Amino acid sequence: MPAGLGRIRYVSENDKAPEISKKILLRILSHFKPYMFQLSLTIFMILVMSILNLIPSLLLKNIIDVALPKKDIQMLGILVMISISTTILINLIQVGQSYLNSWISKHIIFNIKNKMYHHLQGMSLNFFTMAKPGEITTRMGTDIDGIQDIFNSTIVNALNSSFTLLTTALVLFNMNWKLALLSMVVLPLFIFPTRKVGKVRWKVALKSQEKASELNQIIQETLGISGLILMKIFTKERQEKLHFEKANKDLIKLQLRESLVGRWFMMTIQIFMTIGPMLVYFYGGYLLIQGELTVGSIIAFVALLSRLYGPVTQLSNIHIDVTRSFALFGRIFEYLDQDQEVKDKDNAIDLPIQAGLIEFDHVNFSYNVNQPILHDISFKAYPSTITALVGPSGAGKTTITNLIPRLYDVISGIVNVDGISIKDVTLESLRSHIGIVMQEPYLFNASIKDNLLYSKSDATQDEMIKACQAAYIHDFISTLPEGYDTIVGNRGIKLSGGEKQRLSIARVILKNPRIIILDEATSSLDSVSEEYIQKAMGPLLIGRTSIVIAHRLSTILMADNIIVLDKGVLLEQGKHEELLKLNGLYAHLYETQFKAQIKANEVNIEAELINQS
Ligand SMILES: Nc1ncnc2c1ncn2[C@@H]1O[C@H](COP(=O)(O)OP(=O)(O)OP(=O)(O)O)[C@@H](O)[C@H]1O
Ligand SMILES: [Mg+2]
Repeated sequence: MPAGLGRIRYVSENDKAPEISKKILLRILSHFKPYMFQLSLTIFMILVMSILNLIPSLLLKNIIDVALPKKDIQMLGILVMISISTTILINLIQVGQSYLNSWISKHIIFNIKNKMYHHLQGMSLNFFTMAKPGEITTRMGTDIDGIQDIFNSTIVNALNSSFTLLTTALVLFNMNWKLALLSMVVLPLFIFPTRKVGKVRWKVALKSQEKASELNQIIQETLGISGLILMKIFTKERQEKLHFEKANKDLIKLQLRESLVGRWFMMTIQIFMTIGPMLVYFYGGYLLIQGELTVGSIIAFVALLSRLYGPVTQLSNIHIDVTRSFALFGRIFEYLDQDQEVKDKDNAIDLPIQAGLIEFDHVNFSYNVNQPILHDISFKAYPSTITALVGPSGAGKTTITNLIPRLYDVISGIVNVDGISIKDVTLESLRSHIGIVMQEPYLFNASIKDNLLYSKSDATQDEMIKACQAAYIHDFISTLPEGYDTIVGNRGIKLSGGEKQRLSIARVILKNPRIIILDEATSSLDSVSEEYIQKAMGPLLIGRTSIVIAHRLSTILMADNIIVLDKGVLLEQGKHEELLKLNGLYAHLYETQFKAQIKANEVNIEAELINQS
């Protein structure tokens, strides 16, 4: 959000505590299902490691209690060797296990990313209109990548900690149950601060995540080409800089707090970690004096005890990790669950296009529930004719054309093509017969050639040149040093408005569809560009079903039928002369706008004549 627009609170979905239900859990697990074998292998490896991990401590007992008193060098050597080999083995398994972890999580991420991309492709335009800038990138990127952490920190750690805790506790109780019980007394002391700190940390982490996404949004909006130009024109650099710096500062503060919470946390843990062994030395020492325990046992006991505390810390915070995982999956599922409003019916057929007759039959439409935009629109656009849509800004002209390729679905009424409701045919077949030149043409940041091929990937160089000649853009392209290989820049910024339009006309000519929709640019061009565009429109519009949103008299005069709209209502339709006679809105528009264009053109032509003389 640019600073100039005031402070709007960034609502984070994370504010809501995620619902932890069996249904979501099963859904999460379903993503792991294809990797059950690898997962079982990981679990097995973790189990083996937690058992092997006990061996060095137990060997230590034998070194101190048996080998050293006996002064048996050979036995000492063997014990040390076994201990070293076990450690090497554990580390080897560890390497394999982390490889497997990464393998599993990367595969799950890969699948979900593909699924999400495909799902978002099919989402309605409303969804993208409402999405916050950067939000989709965040969900597709950071959120899905977060699954790796979930897998490692939640699932693997929980298993690891549980196994270690269980095996270690078993051995400790087996060695001396009284001492084991005593060393466990400190555990509650442990759990309480851990949980407390974990909670605070989680809250701070949420806040900093929210700040980070605010920062992203500022970057996306003000460092994108359109936003950047706007910022420069309105000289908002200073304001945006302050806005950015403030958000950046807030973020750093939060991140510092997050790590500071961690530091206190470590200190508390460290203190409690030393209390346990001291108790063991004290009570164990007493038992040793009583003759109940050996020195080796006490040392092995303390060594094992340290293996107990780590897992306890881990497990006491597991609910936070689980909550975090559910929140993350919640965000991913939320997108996957979004309804794709416009989609193929189950028994949709391929549109058997013939002439390309378009018919609107009592169509009503609104973008938002309570805001009707089109009211009871009925008209026909006949094959091989040009239908012009005319009306004041906001009348609903673009909206009408959006309904033909089903960028949005009508609320009520029917849109037919050759007598078949467009809701009964597949989107792909419908759209393959429609070509659109948008009000603000969009070009990908690629070469002119690639942008042209987007409409017909197998077009030959010859076809491409023909289309560009028809659109009066070939001569211009030929003057460029790199010709058809010229990169057009972000959104085609390296081309002028008129060039962009002619290029997008060429793109549609190349597609050669039955139905053409042309949303004429409202911005006025100089008379030469105007003339070029006018010439380019000929091959585009003639011989098809053409619907033109016309702002220029010259375009309107080309039309076979003119439809006049105001505030979403169809007021008049007919030919130019007929409409003038009606003396209604069209006559009014003609008097106030179109006539002025004729005058302006005359002035332009005069100016050119003066220039030439
Ligand atoms: N995506 C959208 N969501 C909500 N309302 C919209 C959306 N697009 C357009 N509108 C509203 O619908 C109405 C008709 O818009 P439309 O773009 O069809 O006008 P238009 O006749 O093409 O105008 P112009 O000549 O200025 O291009 C306007 O009031 C506009 O605010
Ligand atoms: Mg429009």
